Amino acid sequence: MPIFAGDFLMRYMAEKQKIVYITRRERFNAAHKLYNNKWSVEENEAFFGKCSNKYYHGHNFELFVTIKGIANPDTGMVMDLKKLKQVIKDSVTEQLDHKNLNEDVPFLKGMMPSIENIVVSVWDILAPQIENGQLHSIKLIETENNFVEYFGE
Ligand code: NI
Repeated sequence: MPIFAGDFLMRYMAEKQKIVYITRRERFNAAHKLYNNKWSVEENEAFFGKCSNKYYHGHNFELFVTIKGIANPDTGMVMDLKKLKQVIKDSVTEQLDHKNLNEDVPFLKGMMPSIENIVVSVWDILAPQIENGQLHSIKLIETENNFVEYFGE
């Protein structure tokens, strides 16, 4: 019986392990200001505008943590989302929630608390704690129009 290339491709695709991306969302509320101490008040205001207000301002942040992996045949899961939720809460959102990001958070100390800098810090905290699969991205939404994503590059 002749073997068709199509048959081979079908079998190959069926046997190939499928990579799935799973995401957990967590939310936190926090205050910050964008202010460079090396600049004057006027320079800060000119660059950062209202974000540099000395009395700070708040956001309802949404954090999305995405893990890439292959579903475990015994559990059907890449990583148990209950466990991922706990890891994110314990090491990230509990540290940020209802905090002043310029002053209160040890892992942001001495850093401009912009969403760009926060996602990189969160990546460094979470990446070593992912047991199955690997960290794929951290997304942080600051306002309905502004968000950043980090892929570990
Ligand atoms: Ni802001």
